[in-house]
Amino acid sequence: MSENLGITISNHFLLNQQLSPGATGSFTRLLQSLVLACKIIQKDVGKAGLVDVLGRAGKVNVQGEEVQKMDELANLTIKRRLSVSGEVCALVSEEEADIIEVPRQYPTGNYVVHYDPLDGSSNIDANVSIGTIFSIYRRVTPSNSDTNDKDALQPGLKQVGAGYVIYGSSCVLVFSTGQGVNGFTLDPSIGEFLLSHPNIRVPRRGKIYSINEGNYSYWDEGTRRYIDWLKHGYEDHKIHYSSRYIGSLVADFHRNLLYGGLFLYPADLKDPLKPQGKLRLMCEANPLAYLIEQAGGVATTGQNRILEIEPNYIHQRVPLIIGSPDDVAIYQDFINGRR
Ligand code: AHG
Ligand code: MN
Ligand code: MN
Repeated sequence: MSENLGITISNHFLLNQQLSPGATGSFTRLLQSLVLACKIIQKDVGKAGLVDVLGRAGKVNVQGEEVQKMDELANLTIKRRLSVSGEVCALVSEEEADIIEVPRQYPTGNYVVHYDPLDGSSNIDANVSIGTIFSIYRRVTPSNSDTNDKDALQPGLKQVGAGYVIYGSSCVLVFSTGQGVNGFTLDPSIGEFLLSHPNIRVPRRGKIYSINEGNYSYWDEGTRRYIDWLKHGYEDHKIHYSSRYIGSLVADFHRNLLYGGLFLYPADLKDPLKPQGKLRLMCEANPLAYLIEQAGGVATTGQNRILEIEPNYIHQRVPLIIGSPDDVAIYQDFINGRR
């Protein structure tokens, strides 16, 4: 049992010197602004059924998806809190078409944050776990210049931090700055996230697979054969796999991170506008790929390591297969014809 259980995020950060030696406190202040935003979202999500934030906002976002009122509220909360933090030079939200510039009246900093303000938002009205996902980069353009696409379009390997908050039976923040993955649970009675899951490691192999089987007929042949093998190949693998799929990436990922297993959202031919699948590289795949690799797992498109993808569009979509390393390796055998 880690003797540090129960310490706050800031204490944990300082204790573990998770910042570079020349740290100025800037990253800590950025993290504190993000944490405050997520506490506010948790409060709003927690009483969603009682105030007018359920249901649709009556508009479609840049993703071509129905915007939920809670999507908008979460997006506004994060945008406001990070803009006034003085630590960011640009924001990219799943909910907004363009790079969000920090309003002139606020000081800017050296970080770029990509975020999915509310992941799994179609589940809000049904009280199913949802979350916020974020991905942090250092700017690459000179600090006295305007930010541009170069700052926003960096490969996932360049992330300096990534994490998510899951608004579920408890509110848990899972985060890494490249020295392992730690989970913090919100104690609502004191309003602090306290260390509850130190040094998370994903099991090498799991017994859970997560995929929307409704898309079966749209998958590539290798993915279909792999899923069939999981279900009907007991004589071969001797494992009784379970299918678990919530429809909130952050909740499916969090369970598989802790228990082991595989989450798959492969390319599917269902929507000709989304030939690369549904999930977004910059605000979903990259941050979770960063975390899973830090926890000893793997994240791939099936062909390429997610973190090495050179992005060309801030809302670029990618196929995402992510989880236990042995499970991902077997999947790749199937789609590359080795099984
Ligand atoms: P978001 O709510 O941010 O748009 O994300 C929804 C995503 C992800 O959370 C989940 O894994 C996936 O959509 C589910 O998609 P399907 O309903 O097509 O399975
Ligand atoms: Mn999402
Ligand atoms: Mn979202």
